Amino acid sequence: MPPFIFTNILSLIDIKNLIVDFEVADADGVALSKKRVLNDITLSIDDGEFVSILGKNGSGKSTLAKCLNALILPTSGDVEILGLNTKDEKNLMSIRQNVGMTFQNPDNQIVSSIVEEDIAFGLENLGIETEEMKARIDTAMRSIGILDLRNSMVSKLSGGQKQKVSIAGILAMKPKIIVLDEPTSMIDKSSRVDLLNTVKYLNEHENITVILISHYVEEIMYGKRTIVLNDGRIIADDIPSEILLRKDILDFAGIDMPYIPKLATELKNLGKKLKGNETKVESLCQYLK
Ligand SMILES: Nc1ncnc2c1ncn2[C@@H]1O[C@H](COP(=O)(O)OP(=O)(O)O)[C@@H](O)[C@H]1O
Ligand SMILES: [Mg+2]
Repeated sequence: MPPFIFTNILSLIDIKNLIVDFEVADADGVALSKKRVLNDITLSIDDGEFVSILGKNGSGKSTLAKCLNALILPTSGDVEILGLNTKDEKNLMSIRQNVGMTFQNPDNQIVSSIVEEDIAFGLENLGIETEEMKARIDTAMRSIGILDLRNSMVSKLSGGQKQKVSIAGILAMKPKIIVLDEPTSMIDKSSRVDLLNTVKYLNEHENITVILISHYVEEIMYGKRTIVLNDGRIIADDIPSEILLRKDILDFAGIDMPYIPKLATELKNLGKKLKGNETKVESLCQYLK
């Protein structure tokens, strides 16, 4: 496989005028009609970014994620990863190796009964030698904090642990980019925080570009940039703290404003001298003394 050449590549991910239409069967199940699922998405993501994608169910988040590793190809427009167009079949292997993706339900991507074998699976497919494979599995398990689960039965693990196993399997392939499609949808609050902190660490210390798809508004604070999708279009692209204050955008995306910004906005409306852009308890408390 040819090595990647990073020079002259401006963005890690470059999406231009992406349109995705699906053919859907009508109620009678006979006639097919066209449904536009992604509608003119233009977006660049740089090396090392941590971007969250927010939007209600059906807004096109998973479809966008699948466009990043060529599981879905554009109806029109282009998706380029490290300068490689997803439409070009000869780029497929390089793109898949560099865009590691976990799906909404971890059970869908578990392939072996034992944790270590499951993590090894992707590497075997890449034809990595045994010694290198062992080293990569160790590193991936250590960085995601699951070394102690090496010989565990996958079926005995909790939802959060299974998500970690799938992420470790992806990290072992050493991708530049990880795309996590609602990784916390099946896990409890404390495992959620733990998993997202691990992902944040990987972004900051291993320079892995992270795309986190979520429908929990509080999770966007882990990233540095948030994109909001609605009906297949980007309706906002800003820093998380700005998004959290945009009631109009959150309403549009069918998402409740989190409690602290909501309280800050309401106190300001009542005449309290707040900036009205407080997103953390501490920043709000100083006005309430
Ligand atoms: N393979 C498919 N065929 C037809 N329609 C699809 C397919 N996959 C998704 N859709 C539709 O596309 C829209 C966007 O879906 P999706 O990308 O899964 O949204 P999200 O992840 O934001 O919930 C939905 O209306 C969904 O029903
Ligand atoms: Mg989805």
